[in-house]
Amino acid sequence: MKLLSILCMGVLFSLPLQANELLTELAPNATTATSSDPLTTLLDRQAALPAVEKKATDEYLQPAPLADIPTGAFGDKVRLGYQLFVNTQQLRNKYVGNELNCVNCHMNAGIKANASPLWAAYFAYPAYRKKNDKVNSFQERIQGCFSYSMNGKAPVSGAPELVAISAYSYWLGMSGLMAQYNVAGTVPELSDLELVKGAKRDDFPMPKGISDHLDIAALSQLPGRGFPKTPQPELAYSPVSRYDCVQSALSSVSW
Ligand code: HEC
Repeated sequence: MKLLSILCMGVLFSLPLQANELLTELAPNATTATSSDPLTTLLDRQAALPAVEKKATDEYLQPAPLADIPTGAFGDKVRLGYQLFVNTQQLRNKYVGNELNCVNCHMNAGIKANASPLWAAYFAYPAYRKKNDKVNSFQERIQGCFSYSMNGKAPVSGAPELVAISAYSYWLGMSGLMAQYNVAGTVPELSDLELVKGAKRDDFPMPKGISDHLDIAALSQLPGRGFPKTPQPELAYSPVSRYDCVQSALSSVSW
């Protein structure tokens, strides 16, 4: 009993000491402990991400007002695309598995610049995507957002929903381009088959009033796809020939 109480006292007395030791051990790391504090590391308190400053000369395409969407079968497709885009919940359980609408991420009905606007996207496809390692048509890119962003099931290729969202995207982009280049009239109608492809293809029916203004030389400066062919440089990269380089590299290797 005596031995036990002595042991107990020993434990009691040594506890504060141990705690103190622990504190001194932890002290140098105290700042790390604070920075991982959940109160200060919540997502909305993270440091601002670097933003590209907008230049005074920067301009964005201005699609026509939605009230200009024409009456008739083609206009109805464009309107349906808009309605599906802003209220995607009408496809809940059929194609949509969460509470989102496309417009939650692609803001202002897919018109807001710098929020992946549809008018820009339509003219950027077909394009290669690393995610599925192939060239994606415009409808394939939309299918991707149904599967992943909407946590749902993508409509099959050619489905009326994909045609409609493509028609809406095309109408936004083409109406903007026509305004930019003073091309009068209504947006030319495209077939469903044409609509779902996207506009970044050689056989896209670009109205002449617009294509006349497009600078093919400037296109060749875009990364990724170069046309026309860039001329050969006048000088080689280095006065030392490739053969000499290989020879000197080999001679420094000890075999
Ligand atoms: C949770 C957010 C979110 C939702 C909801 C969402 N998207 Fe997206 N979407 C993205 C992101 C992020 C990208 C990739 C943007 C990039 O590559 O710059 C993207 C890309 C796209 C692109 C290609 C844009 C481009 O410029 O390459 C299209 C088209 C698109 N989404 C359509 C849709 C449609 C249609 C819906 C609704 C069915 C939808 N998205 C819902 C986040 C979302």
